[in-house]
Amino acid sequence: MKNHILVIFGGMSREHEISLLSAANVIKHLSEEKYNVIMVGITKSGQWMRYRGSVEDIKSGAWSDHPLNLTANISQDRSIKGLIVLDEEKVSIEPVDVVIPVLHGKNGEDGKLQGLLEISGIPFVGCGTASSANCMDKVITDIILRNVGIKKANLVWFYFKEYEKNPEEIIKKIELNLKKYPLFVKPSNSGSSVGISHVKNREELKEAIFLAAEEDHKILVEESIDGKELECAVLGNKDLIASVVGEIEPLNGFYDYNAKYLDNTSALHIPARIDDNISDKIREIALKAYKTMGCTGLARIDFFLRSKDNEIILNEINSLPGFTDISMYPKLMDKMKIPLNKLLDKLISLALERDENDG
Ligand SMILES: Nc1ncnc2c1ncn2[C@@H]1O[C@H](COP(=O)(O)OP(=O)(O)O)[C@@H](O)[C@H]1O
Ligand SMILES: [Mg+2]
Repeated sequence: MKNHILVIFGGMSREHEISLLSAANVIKHLSEEKYNVIMVGITKSGQWMRYRGSVEDIKSGAWSDHPLNLTANISQDRSIKGLIVLDEEKVSIEPVDVVIPVLHGKNGEDGKLQGLLEISGIPFVGCGTASSANCMDKVITDIILRNVGIKKANLVWFYFKEYEKNPEEIIKKIELNLKKYPLFVKPSNSGSSVGISHVKNREELKEAIFLAAEEDHKILVEESIDGKELECAVLGNKDLIASVVGEIEPLNGFYDYNAKYLDNTSALHIPARIDDNISDKIREIALKAYKTMGCTGLARIDFFLRSKDNEIILNEINSLPGFTDISMYPKLMDKMKIPLNKLLDKLISLALERDENDG
């Protein structure tokens, strides 16, 4: 019998459009022989819709106007384990074996949806509630990983309310601790470079804090690392695979939203142009970080290799990395001889084998 796989896409996130591209790519690569694919789109305003249209319409965003769309909810009731679909007066239930939340950023990658799925008792791909939430929050990730000896960029963090009360004191603390510009300003919870600025002086710093505050009330300011940008894909629950290391070469400044998804202003090198002993070390740190954060299923761990001293610095962990056809995670796994269709089979079986207490 075919497994019923629920792919959720879109979402109330600044990364809604990327999710559409990732989901279209995922759906295209799910085996029709093995799976009965059920699609649910979440609009930017939070409406859940059972969708029966084409993959192309997901990509373009036209899916949300499809005439056959029906309101649908995941049942939190464990005796149901499925989707409740509402067709005017009629209610029907579609059973679900595994959920693939192909959502990025807020409300999809940050533990909230994972919490709902854990309550529902339906297995799902990726990290659990706590690890998703901890990976999403850059300040929390920093506090946890620093504690196990993983090197991170120096940072100062604060709440925007504190800044509003006493901006001069916070600026002083930043300049005293981080010493020199340029600096990176980031919302603690965000993604795809939204709300992130690279600032060269105090004036730009002040502006960037307001920009970051539009995304999150918790803000961090970080020293700027000059070096290579490297990424490692990790797969597994207990027996883990760390991929070859990939390198991003941003061709105009930093790897911002446009460079990531919209234009071709960055080049990917797989494997990265680094020595073997450094990539071994990166894989080792990636596994340590994955375990420490309690990740399951998959995560992409991002690093810098600082030019001046070859120091490996962990930047961030993405618990639901991009799955578009130009995304690093599927490319790295492909290099490990796990093409996307096989990768999806593996992620589904990892979801099914994951224990409730696995985090
Ligand atoms: N401390 C830093 N030094 C140098 N570049 C950075 C630093 N922090 C972020 N960047 C650049 O900004 C991009 C986005 O930052 P990142 O922390 O990865 O946030 P996001 O969650 O939005 O991907 C990175 O891919 C990198 O190009
Ligand atoms: Mg990033």
